[in-house]
Amino acid sequence: MCGIVGYIGHRDAYPIIIKGLQRLEYRGYDSAGIALYDGKDINLSKTKGKVEDLKNKSQKSISLEGKLGIGHTRWATHGVPNDVNSHPHYSNSGDLVIIHNGIIENYDSLKKELIKRGYTFSSETDTEVLVNLIEEVKRKEGVKLGKAVQIALNQVVGAYAIAVFDKQKPDEIVVAKLGSPLAIGVGENEFFIASDASPFIEFTNNAIYLEDEEMAVIRLGKEIKLRKIKDDAIAYPSIQELKLNLEEIEKGGFDHFMLKEIYEQPRAILDTYRGRLLAKEGIIKMAGIDDNLEKFLNANRIIIVACGTSWHAGLVAEYIFEDLARIPVEVEYASEFRYRNPVITDKDVLIAISQSGETADTLAAIKLAKEKGAFVFGVCNVVGSSIARETDAGAYTHAGPEIGVASTKAFTTQITVLTLLALKLAKEKGIFNNTRFHEHLTELENIPAKVEKALLTNPLVEIIADVYKNSTNCLYLGRGYNFPVALEGALKLKEISYIHAEGYPAAEMKHGPIALIDEHMPVVVIATNKGHYEKVVSNIQEIKSRKGKIIAVVTEGDEQVRDLADHVIEIPETLESLTPLLTTIPLQLLSYHIAVMRGCNVDQPRNLAKSVTVE
Ligand code: AGP
Repeated sequence: MCGIVGYIGHRDAYPIIIKGLQRLEYRGYDSAGIALYDGKDINLSKTKGKVEDLKNKSQKSISLEGKLGIGHTRWATHGVPNDVNSHPHYSNSGDLVIIHNGIIENYDSLKKELIKRGYTFSSETDTEVLVNLIEEVKRKEGVKLGKAVQIALNQVVGAYAIAVFDKQKPDEIVVAKLGSPLAIGVGENEFFIASDASPFIEFTNNAIYLEDEEMAVIRLGKEIKLRKIKDDAIAYPSIQELKLNLEEIEKGGFDHFMLKEIYEQPRAILDTYRGRLLAKEGIIKMAGIDDNLEKFLNANRIIIVACGTSWHAGLVAEYIFEDLARIPVEVEYASEFRYRNPVITDKDVLIAISQSGETADTLAAIKLAKEKGAFVFGVCNVVGSSIARETDAGAYTHAGPEIGVASTKAFTTQITVLTLLALKLAKEKGIFNNTRFHEHLTELENIPAKVEKALLTNPLVEIIADVYKNSTNCLYLGRGYNFPVALEGALKLKEISYIHAEGYPAAEMKHGPIALIDEHMPVVVIATNKGHYEKVVSNIQEIKSRKGKIIAVVTEGDEQVRDLADHVIEIPETLESLTPLLTTIPLQLLSYHIAVMRGCNVDQPRNLAKSVTVE
């Protein structure tokens, strides 16, 4: 996610902002920038790369004077990482300068309108549109910056945490929040602005956290006044006295990045379908797909290549595409695909899935497919990554940076993107009528709230983890859509707790694995009420009769499995094709708690790297 930092007060702003950006580096970013007001003008420096690069560039290129300034680390969503697309952004007049964390969904229509009014743009970003919209409102309505921001934000659809100032009125900074975090540090005759408290905790532990749809005009020597963006109602700020240390702030109060990222999944899934899933209008809007629809509709088959967790997301997608869109799919380990001399034609569509966008085997598989004429579509989380640049088209997940080596929110957001693609193709092919299409769109919109509910199983899962933390083996079983989830659950457990775990199709048990079952073998079974439920229940009975310990993930209200299993974890009901987005949650939590109880390094497990950029 982007990081924002701002300062207005009696100290030099530059060192505070630079250090504050360094404190936010953990959020992941690809470029950085700063703007300072030196008493006369705004001095701005920005660059692709790291904060260190920004320090080197700014110290050579601009005056570092000033007690008012804003800074930004950018995690690209619109526009590739480069100097021009970095923040801060000027308005056309050069009077206003803004930083922004979030996504403006309707930036395209706003940009077109501003161009008609003579505005020009140097970047591809939604943020540059926003600062010029504010300028246009300020000019046209003849209002002050605070009011102009408020009016402009009422025309915006999307998520934002912004800080903006006007060199014509350099005694104030205006901030506003919707969807992305924004904290104000309240010091002695000085104010700090940041995405979290880490940039200012050394100066003050008094913080105001803006709520969604709140804004503030921060003026030196004045009480902070919060307003509701929508109706101008006054909101009264509650100043919190923070007791968190730096490390706790970076992890959002969670003990590990992995747990933080597990809990970010409702927001990450929402951000991934934001602006793409328009359930009321019955539309799925994704440029990478819309511009290449014929290729998908005329494809002989879809080949999915990926590694690890992304490969499991690909397996889920196989069930979704074949079941809903009736398109033949094969899923390949990229590392095998690239060497087995596969048959590929120009009637094939290859989908490459990769969180990092840097996995060497996946990149090599893409190049092979392109050489043989296939159309290649990428599903990546890192904008401008090698895979994103190598593919012919793509759709980004908007999970935000995934710091924990064990992939969690990448998995669920990859499935979200692939579900949108499959639903769009099912509709375009006439397989889905409007009713069935609308049912799926509406249910997909319900998923973030249902993931929140699934996360409420955490205390129960922690108790179960304590029972099995010393196991030496574990089996994961699932059928249909949840067979890949069984594989993913097993991968999670083995990679962070170092317990040997295997995932199997539940029916495959009797072809071998059942020989492993005894009273020492915990078996995690996904037994939701959709898709061959009764058959999974008989698998559970087979395990029980051999004294296996059964941890069952069931649909809330299930009684039948409750009578058979040793432990039952209930998740909300949903459509069969969407169950993986929910069944994976307790399995992520189970692996996390077992790993913590075993004293493992959850965020950086032994022998593993976050991105395998070598063969
Ligand atoms: C999953 O938890 C692992 N971190 C690993 O299997 C990962 O999914 C795999 O290396 C693929 O990475 P990518 O999605 O960045 O290509």
